[in-house]
Amino acid sequence: MTELNEKTIVRSVDVTRVFKVDHNEVHALRGVSIEIARNKFVGLMGRSGSGKTTLMNLIGGLDHPTSGAMFVYGQEISKLSDRKLTNLRRHRIGFVFQSFALMPTMSAIENVELPLRLVGMSRRARRQRVMEVLDMVGLTRWAKHRPQELSGGQQQRVAIARALVTRPNLILADEPTGELDSVTGRAIMELFRDIVRHEDVTILMTSHDPVMLEIVDYTYEMADGQIINERAGVAQEKEPQFQRP
Ligand SMILES: Nc1ncnc2c1ncn2[C@@H]1O[C@H](COP(=O)(O)OP(=O)(O)OP(=O)(O)O)[C@@H](O)[C@H]1O
Ligand SMILES: [Mg+2]
Repeated sequence: MTELNEKTIVRSVDVTRVFKVDHNEVHALRGVSIEIARNKFVGLMGRSGSGKTTLMNLIGGLDHPTSGAMFVYGQEISKLSDRKLTNLRRHRIGFVFQSFALMPTMSAIENVELPLRLVGMSRRARRQRVMEVLDMVGLTRWAKHRPQELSGGQQQRVAIARALVTRPNLILADEPTGELDSVTGRAIMELFRDIVRHEDVTILMTSHDPVMLEIVDYTYEMADGQIINERAGVAQEKEPQFQRP
């Protein structure tokens, strides 16, 4: 894995995204400039249609800005070759979706192992890493279960383990709690909080749930394709109660 020197994981400079639908133009992003630091838990809020998913897709290299520039790990996404962009997405960014997006016929172990098979790691090393991340998300007991044998919260934990398995320093989670009840949703956010505390990873998450404000380090709020507010989270203002030995 490449050495990580940057303190800033994501930086966008006056990014716009215009979609053309028939003869109309939809201005989904209208000049977004953000800077997301290493090893932070960052929330992205805003009403439906405000541009959150569009922004996440640009950060994840799944889409390109109409104008402006998006930098991830200091590299401008739109200037990368297809091969480099695929590499970045596969190894350095973890994705977590609202719908979990697990393979239904595969066990938790096999689902989490999938990204590692693309890297060409030995079977033994793969299994060791998979069990490590399943332990991190509290699913050791459920390792052999298939998605349909797991609750929604457990399925999302499998998806989080899958996102972590290649040790990316950036995880993008678009409404990861959208399909979950509020208690399970909060538990997923607490898990993210814990992962950011113990691993060198930045998590960017969108949510409609105001509980997020209590848990993240920093929040951006969007409206109508722009950032209208940004602030440090409550978690950031509190002194940590316990120090890890
Ligand atoms: N592929 C597309 N083609 C055309 N318009 C699009 C496309 N993707 C998004 N849009 C439009 O861009 C705007 C922002 O959409 P986006 O999905 O980013 O919102 P969002 O904040 O993620 O909303 P939600 O909270 O409902 O997920 C909306 O007006 C949407 O209709
Ligand atoms: Mg969305």
